[in-house]
Amino acid sequence: MKRDLITLFDYTATEIQQLLESSAKFKRDRTFGSQLLLGKSIGLIFQKPSNRTRVSFEVGVNQLGGNCIYLGPEEINLGERESTTDVAKTLSRYLSALVARTHAHKVIVELAEQASIPIINGLSDLYHPCQALADLLTVQETFKNLKGITLAYIGDGNNVCHSLLIGCSKLGIHMRIATPKGYEPLSEIVKLAQTIAKKSGARIKLTHSPQEAVKSAQVIYSDVWVSMGQEKEAKKRLKTFQNYQVNKKLLQSADKDHIFMHCLPAHRGEEVSADVIDGKHSVVFDQAENRLHVQKAVLAFLLKTK
Ligand code: CP
Ligand code: NVA
Repeated sequence: MKRDLITLFDYTATEIQQLLESSAKFKRDRTFGSQLLLGKSIGLIFQKPSNRTRVSFEVGVNQLGGNCIYLGPEEINLGERESTTDVAKTLSRYLSALVARTHAHKVIVELAEQASIPIINGLSDLYHPCQALADLLTVQETFKNLKGITLAYIGDGNNVCHSLLIGCSKLGIHMRIATPKGYEPLSEIVKLAQTIAKKSGARIKLTHSPQEAVKSAQVIYSDVWVSMGQEKEAKKRLKTFQNYQVNKKLLQSADKDHIFMHCLPAHRGEEVSADVIDGKHSVVFDQAENRLHVQKAVLAFLLKTK
């Protein structure tokens, strides 16, 4: 049976921990697994722009001995030039795995259903699991023990927030999410995370108060207020979110050894002030680096179990 990485819901807490251990191994030894993908080609279908996801996958695949084929919006025109099903079936005959960044999450689900090769979600409108894995690795590197840590997520209840919700609830990290009214994470995802959290001991709290969320928290996380694909809502969103900026004042009540996290790209002066993202508590470039190590671990895992 092939495995995919569509959301972290499909992974047990033990599997996530194993992926983090494997990522740390790839990080310690950059040459580890250098023959793993020898003769294998990995496709990257991207409907949206990317810096970190594309480059870290391409570099990671190269370091594992494989090669990458980037298929931007112009090349494949997923679902328009050709059906998603036909694309999935055709690419399964050439490639060993496919990373997909799509607008609609259901397109990634359809790719996974129709392809005989592993499909990796490189971001959809609902989830960003590779990011969450890199984030968990970054938190683990700082605090060693993940259980009992509190992560405060401030801003939009979006794809990044959803994947953090799943990852945190699986590994016992308490999560407080502060959003404006109407921008909460999807209730069905929160409910599923709450069910998982019962087992791990994680507590999940939704609030509209950033101050309440950050109080004594060890990890403060923010993401853009306008995600890719929401550009038409930009004006309204920037106004609605203006009290949700992570800045020095807000962080006064956070744990004194807190870290600031952001998946990047960031907008200084909007969701985060420049002195915070460029300050001494910020680990945003560690997160970015960890994308590389985590994705090598994901590829090693998926291509071994295929
Ligand atoms: N964090 C992240 O996924 O960055 P990109 O959009 O640049 O890939
Ligand atoms: N929420 C952002 C994440 C970018 C990595 C977006 O979807 O655009």
